[in-house]
Amino acid sequence: DKGGWPSFMAKEVSEEPEAVANTLRGRIHDGVVSIPELDGLDDLFRGIDRIIVIACGTAAYAGMVGKYALEQWTRLPVDVELAHEFRYRDPVIGPSTLVVSISQSGETMDTLMAVKFAREAGAKTLSICNTQGATIPRESDAIVYTHAGPEVAVASTKAFVAQITALYLLALHVGRLRGAVSASAVEELARELEAVPSKITWILENDRARIEEFAAWMADTRSVLFLGRHVGYPIALEGALKLKEITYIHAEGFAAGELKHGPIALIEPGQPVFVIVPSPRASALLHAKVVSNIQEIRARGARVIAVAEEGDAAVLPFADEVLRIPLAGPLFEPLLAVVPLHIFAMGLAGAKGLDVDQPRNLAKSVTVE
Ligand code: F6R
Repeated sequence: DKGGWPSFMAKEVSEEPEAVANTLRGRIHDGVVSIPELDGLDDLFRGIDRIIVIACGTAAYAGMVGKYALEQWTRLPVDVELAHEFRYRDPVIGPSTLVVSISQSGETMDTLMAVKFAREAGAKTLSICNTQGATIPRESDAIVYTHAGPEVAVASTKAFVAQITALYLLALHVGRLRGAVSASAVEELARELEAVPSKITWILENDRARIEEFAAWMADTRSVLFLGRHVGYPIALEGALKLKEITYIHAEGFAAGELKHGPIALIEPGQPVFVIVPSPRASALLHAKVVSNIQEIRARGARVIAVAEEGDAAVLPFADEVLRIPLAGPLFEPLLAVVPLHIFAMGLAGAKGLDVDQPRNLAKSVTVE
């Protein structure tokens, strides 16, 4: 049931606020984060010295975002790896390694095989999954479910924000347990998390129609680039993946710092480039670097579409279009910045008359390797 929306994807994007809210439900009490499913596993989390996150596609980008939070709040080293790459080398893992898998379906064969491989190598395994009782959580030592609700459209949207939410909860849970983050910091971060759903709603209510219109206007575009830095980098990758998946337009995401190491050669007059701009309040330095990237590509004729926080005036002179997101702490921006990109991809596919729910050549659940 599409609930009155033209597609499941449209419905699921509109459910992004609930996907976050439902994933938080029952896991934050008066500023204390505790995940009931992880009761009894304190020794497991105290005994690890390293985390490896494995996943594919959009779930892997959620993992890349989660790495920042996991490292910051647990002070454990974190690597993120594509599940299908992980098991075809000889990774250094053992009983003090926690392998966190992320999968919406819980059936992705590449991820499942990597989880089994990690288990056989003696690592501890934790599954972040959106499907109760799926194979991957059944194969894991611990489970943190995301509560995004069933995702029907092939392109993952609401599951992505729910996955990041679950990773943040996990990071706070483990970080607190290990004494790596203070109770007062957790309280403040929990409040930030709880504020995310209404901020996503703000974007959907205020900007959805405008972004869709803008996307329709770009329907003849042949290639779109996405740039981001820090947590904005995986968001750039996600923006590009979603666009190529459902519009069949060539799209690539880059780390903004890589520009001068090659990709800037792609910039020619008229080339559309989305730039995820970090908040100037969080890091003036990071912000300045991204603004200077914008100037570099703009000087070469790029058409710049900035995804920037409200009130960031520094981008205005150089951006052809600004997609606004509400103010949030630096680690919470990805949960907001991705929303305009999801709307954009969907709007563009719609304008091209494509079936956004069933893109060509793709299956919702990839159960072969
Ligand atoms: C992208 C997309 C895919 C999945 C990937 C993993 O929109 O849907 O990249 O994210 O195939 O799927 P799950 O999360 O079910 O393991």
